[in-house]
Amino acid sequence: MLCFGARRRLGRVVTLLGMRSIFLVGFMGAGKSSVGTALAAQLGAQFVDLDGEISRRLGAPIPEIFARYGEDTFRTTERDELERCAELPDVVVATGGGAFCSVANREVIHQTGGVSVFLDLPWAVLRERLVRDHSDRPMYDDPDQARQLFEERLPHYRCALVRVSLAGQEDPAEVAGIVVATLREAPCAI
Ligand code: S3P
Repeated sequence: MLCFGARRRLGRVVTLLGMRSIFLVGFMGAGKSSVGTALAAQLGAQFVDLDGEISRRLGAPIPEIFARYGEDTFRTTERDELERCAELPDVVVATGGGAFCSVANREVIHQTGGVSVFLDLPWAVLRERLVRDHSDRPMYDDPDQARQLFEERLPHYRCALVRVSLAGQEDPAEVAGIVVATLREAPCAI
C-alpha cells in the first residue's frame, strides 16, 4: 500500500516518462526479471519478460531452444520479439543477458523511444548467483568462461541510457525504487 505522497511521486515518474517504455539490461543473474516485475508493479505498467515471449513463440523453454535450434535461431527470435515489445506502449521489459549486446537491438530500443537501464552488479555477486543457479542458462559453462563473457559484454551494457550501480544485496522492490529515483533525475527520461 502506498501513501498519497508516494502515489503522487510515482504518478509524476509515469508522467515524466510519458509513453517511454523501460528496458532492463545487464548480465545473467543481475535480477532483470524480478526487478522488472517489481518495477512494473510500482509504476502500474505491464511487465514483459523477453525470454518468456521467445519461449512462448517457439513453444519450448530457453535451454531446449538452444539445444534444438541453436543460438542463431534464438537470437533471430529475440530480435523479432524485441521489435514487437518495443511497439507496446508504457511497458517494462526484462531482456535476456545477450539482447543488448547487438547494435541493431539497441537501435530497436532507442529508436522507438525506449529507455534502457543497466543493472550494474559486481562480478563477485553475479558469479555467486550463477554458480548457485545456472541450470536454465545455456550461455553459462563455468565461472571462468562466464567472467570472460561478462568482460566482453560490459562495453555494450554501458551503452544503456541509464546505469544503476548496485551492491547486489538489495531486494527487487528496493532496486525498483532506486530505478524509479534514478529515472526521475535522468534527463533522458524526461
Ligand atoms: C542469455 C541470457 C539469458 C537468456 C539466454 C541467453 C545470454 O537470459 O536470454 O539464455 O546470452 O546471456 P538471462 O540474462 O535472464 O539469464
